[in-house]
Amino acid sequence: MTITAHTQARLLGLPGSLRLGSHSLAVLRGLQPELRPAVDLQIGDLRLPLYDEDQDGPSTPENVRVFRQAVAESDGVVITTPEYNHGIPGVLKNALDWASRPLGRSALTGKAVLVISVSPAFTGGVRAQAQANETLLAIQSRPVLGPQVVIGNVADKIKDGRLTDEPSLRFALSAIDRLIALCPAIRKAEYAHLSLS
Ligand SMILES: Cc1cc2nc3c(=O)[nH]c(=O)nc-3n(C[C@H](O)[C@H](O)[C@H](O)COP(=O)(O)O)c2cc1C
Repeated sequence: MTITAHTQARLLGLPGSLRLGSHSLAVLRGLQPELRPAVDLQIGDLRLPLYDEDQDGPSTPENVRVFRQAVAESDGVVITTPEYNHGIPGVLKNALDWASRPLGRSALTGKAVLVISVSPAFTGGVRAQAQANETLLAIQSRPVLGPQVVIGNVADKIKDGRLTDEPSLRFALSAIDRLIALCPAIRKAEYAHLSLS
């Protein structure tokens, strides 16, 4: 995570799709240059082994440790996800299950999390969004409340691997402002003077 002297909010973006041309990834890439200068959004990778409780302990896989550390070091998390068969993709659920442990010490507990769902269909992955928020509640994360960011017809809103559709970007950015307002460290710091809208 690149942190400059002026960085006040360190966000971790997690795309719920592994494919190279992923729309979920393109949404995060489209948001990156649009954020306030004080906000840094790094994009993580959910290519993790399948959750196995036998491997969760002294022998936790190294990339899982790195993933948990990235979540812990972030001020807030932005999940962008497609909908698979009316639910969240297995890779996202798997990552959330890894992040939910160690029990009682999850890096996601108390963490502000924004879920943005996307779909080439007009429905925008709204069922996956509901399911992701349900899982986040189980982990006692702090899902961002308010208008849900669902991006329908997403394929038409992406150019050169980035979300470029202005209304979608503005809508998502206002939700990111609400996410930042939920981050305890940021609230205590100087972010307040940036006048959240
Ligand atoms: C296994 C599978 C199930 C899918 N189920 C749904 C679905 O229930 N609802 C929906 O809107 N799109 C569904 N889709 C289409 C995805 O929204 C589409 O492939 C999307 O581009 C995947 O996200 P990505 O671009 O980030 O990889 C499904 C795709 C796959 C591969």
